[in-house]
Amino acid sequence: MLKSNLIKKLTTVPSQTYDKTFLKDFLYGSTFELDQRIRTHTRMGSRSDFHQWIVSKIKPEGMLTLDAGCGTGNLLIPIANHIKKHQKQGYVVGVDISQSLINHLNKYLIQTKLPVTCATADIEKLNFPDKMFDRVLCAYVLYHCPKIHKALSELHRVVKENGRVFVMTNSRETMREFERINSEVLSLTLSAKVPLAARIESRFCSENANDYFSKYFRIINRFTYRDVLEFSTAKDFINFYNSSRGRNRFYLTRHQCELLQKKLRYVTENLMSGSGVIQIKKCSHLFCLTSL
Ligand SMILES: C[S@@+](CC[C@H](N)C(=O)[O-])C[C@H]1O[C@@H](n2cnc3c(N)ncnc32)[C@H](O)[C@@H]1O
Repeated sequence: MLKSNLIKKLTTVPSQTYDKTFLKDFLYGSTFELDQRIRTHTRMGSRSDFHQWIVSKIKPEGMLTLDAGCGTGNLLIPIANHIKKHQKQGYVVGVDISQSLINHLNKYLIQTKLPVTCATADIEKLNFPDKMFDRVLCAYVLYHCPKIHKALSELHRVVKENGRVFVMTNSRETMREFERINSEVLSLTLSAKVPLAARIESRFCSENANDYFSKYFRIINRFTYRDVLEFSTAKDFINFYNSSRGRNRFYLTRHQCELLQKKLRYVTENLMSGSGVIQIKKCSHLFCLTSL
């Protein structure tokens, strides 16, 4: 592949991001990379209140909640735990396009007595009756949907008239430092100037969300969640990089992959030797929506 084409592939949003077969079979074909990223966000973040924060906004007590694109249950489980702990009526339904993640989640849920059911489904074509749910949560999923309008019209269809849809997504300003490190690592690997990846700009994100929502919903609130990931060992940062940038292996030769790991270690250790830590700032938004 021409170097310029390769650089383009590595720095623009890949078409696989929207390819459902790729999502089901590779990106979310096993829990490994998603779990690794979630663990990093939990362990390295300076805040530890993310789950409580989300639950306090959704207020799922006594409600029937849909978690659309529930993944490994990172938000679904705290919501169900909250309902159980408060001994309030309430139930959660989780759906995800990845059979493998749902199987894994169901294996875990079977040992619990949580008020949850999970199944495989595509949020662009949900198999639920109209106006079924009091709450619908869709966290960090819409940027994978090839037809965002289809997904939003489904979320709109299945929520009750007086219900709420919660969409969580990243801001364009999130993880800029990560992109700078990525560009340096790739530049060293390919001996060429590799620009910052247009990872967020062209995708569904906080800044363009309203353009999509305005057809179906009124935004009644937008809540900001900021955090800083702090890595104090090279190993932790390298693991995080690899779980976020696993797709590089589809474009690079074996030799380039090996070289990239060497350059990644070099850049990471260099940064660590300065201040002793690598800090990555994160910014996400939770939109609380109601039907027009
Ligand atoms: C970044 S993960 C977020 C998982 C979870 N919501 C969380 O916050 O931990 C994205 C999830 O969306 C799922 N997904 C992507 N496209 C989907 C679709 N069309 N229908 C249902 N799930 C989808 C993926 O399988 C993956 O589990």
